[in-house]
Amino acid sequence: MGAFGVGVIGCGMISGNHFHALSKLDNAVLRAVCDIDEERLNQAMAEQGVPGCADWRQLIARPDIDAVHICVPHYLHAEISIAALRAGKHVLCEKPMGVSLAEAQAMRDAARETGRTLTVCFQNRYNGASKRMKEVIEEGGLGQLQGGSAFVAWNRAEPYYTKSPWRGAWKTEGGSVLINQAIHTLDLLRYLAGDLQLRGCTMSAKRLGETIETEDTCDMLLTDRRGGRYLFYASNCFVSNLPVQMHLIFERGEMHLDGPRLTIKAQGETQTEDYTTALAVGKDYWGSGHGPFIADFYRRLAAGEGPFITPEDALQTTQLMEQAYLDSMQTRRRPG
Ligand SMILES: NC(=O)c1ccc[n+]([C@@H]2O[C@H](COP(=O)([O-])OP(=O)(O)OC[C@H]3O[C@@H](n4cnc5c(N)ncnc54)[C@H](O)[C@@H]3O)[C@@H](O)[C@H]2O)c1
Repeated sequence: MGAFGVGVIGCGMISGNHFHALSKLDNAVLRAVCDIDEERLNQAMAEQGVPGCADWRQLIARPDIDAVHICVPHYLHAEISIAALRAGKHVLCEKPMGVSLAEAQAMRDAARETGRTLTVCFQNRYNGASKRMKEVIEEGGLGQLQGGSAFVAWNRAEPYYTKSPWRGAWKTEGGSVLINQAIHTLDLLRYLAGDLQLRGCTMSAKRLGETIETEDTCDMLLTDRRGGRYLFYASNCFVSNLPVQMHLIFERGEMHLDGPRLTIKAQGETQTEDYTTALAVGKDYWGSGHGPFIADFYRRLAAGEGPFITPEDALQTTQLMEQAYLDSMQTRRRPG
């Protein structure tokens, strides 16, 4: 079989990570790009040396395209994913999987009905430290997980929102710090700790209330099936972008993630492993996971295997996220 023909819809900030990852693959080749912004479209066409169009419907109708990468604002993820699946394309959608559980379910159902592959870009699961944490948990040597915490302190200032007006609006972004930035950490915590139940969530716009209608700060209490407790805090109000921190407490040890560094405490010994990798492209807080994630997507497609991050799995992160937004309505109203 020849290489998969690929189309990228949305040529904004994150598209560079997708173009770069695709340029390294033998089994996938970029065939076309799409953006409604003429300047961005022309730039992507010139840099990637492929044709382009402003209408995504035109792109998904191309017979030389087998898979599409969806890199557009959140409110378009479900509509374009579903149409692309129905047009017979495999879909790699940037996070989040829809702005609501209903949208995520419709995306999953479309993948089931069409038999096409759908995955969602939670590339941080491919970080070396994330993989090591999962491995340690599955080995079971630290005993049962008893709880943990996750901390995301980042900085998104006014221009980040004013230059891309889809951000900071309920209708188009669907939220802010949780759905856009901290969703990766919520997904990673869910991936490591298993099913999590929301016990309570508070959201507020502490710094950007004049600019955005959504939240810049979010905190939650979650519990796992055994009653283990997890604190989750995320804010875009910090002065820089701190490495994501996660603590997991086990019966016989602890793990502490500090960006790419993982410290494991077990049997009286403390060991730190550094999984720092050189950034190929993009912002440091996006990490280096796009390359391995996209490579794995096409390796599995070629092998006839399902995606590592299945629609059913990704959907659970959207479900938890939606519960958090609904719960926080007690303190801050989410219209629509
Ligand atoms: N995985 C990650 O770490 C990561 C990091 C950043 C962004 N993202 C995600 O990537 C997606 C895009 O984010 P971004 O930061 O690149 O945003 P952006 O605003 O920089 O780019 C979005 C692009 O989509 C285009 N667009 C809008 N409507 C369109 C339409 N109908 N048809 C075609 N193109 C259209 C815009 O013109 C723009 O060029 C979002 O889902 C975001 O959450 C993921």
